[in-house]
Amino acid sequence: MLRKVMNCNWKIFWENFNECLHCPGVHKDLSRLVPIYGRGLMGRHDDPEWARHADNDAPEFAGGLRAGAETWSRDGRVHGSVFSSLTPAERAAGQTYATNLPSMFVVGHVDYVRTVRLVPLGPEQTELTAEWLFSPEALVDPAADIDNIVAFGTQVLEEDADICEVNQKGLRSMRHKAGVLMPEEYDLHRFHNWVRERHAALEHQSDLGR
Ligand SMILES: [Fe+2]
Repeated sequence: MLRKVMNCNWKIFWENFNECLHCPGVHKDLSRLVPIYGRGLMGRHDDPEWARHADNDAPEFAGGLRAGAETWSRDGRVHGSVFSSLTPAERAAGQTYATNLPSMFVVGHVDYVRTVRLVPLGPEQTELTAEWLFSPEALVDPAADIDNIVAFGTQVLEEDADICEVNQKGLRSMRHKAGVLMPEEYDLHRFHNWVRERHAALEHQSDLGR
């Protein structure tokens, strides 16, 4: 388990989560493991030249892990048991995300599941808790190299936490007025709209309560 207090607002964490423009600069090792991240893209549909690359199944265009890699770990390899009921598509995806705003996301890999939970401690502090869940077989498998896996995921989360803290400092700058969204940040736009809708709903509720 990783528990960490990040000096940033919880919304900054989700803004960062919803784009990969930061990936080539911030996540060097992850960008090697998931080559499309190294292009600053989250998936094939983000490619501005998608029509030219539509038939190209190389991972830098199609997404998924680099050739020969099987999971998110330091060396990209599986050590020990994998989940037996996965479809070939789930196996090939390398990572399958499920997001539950505003407090959690879960990532499934072929050999483990990672959960990340967020609890706001204040306007500029958020507690992050990450857990790595393994099958009972993996936990007793002498070939399982759990440290290899946890070290890699921890590195990625630490990199994100660091850049979120830099972002929070930037928002405190006297010169900051507003940011500009890039086309690749359409998911941030969706997130901003989600926050606005939730605010409006809460205001409506409190109006009714008066
Ligand atoms: Fe990131």
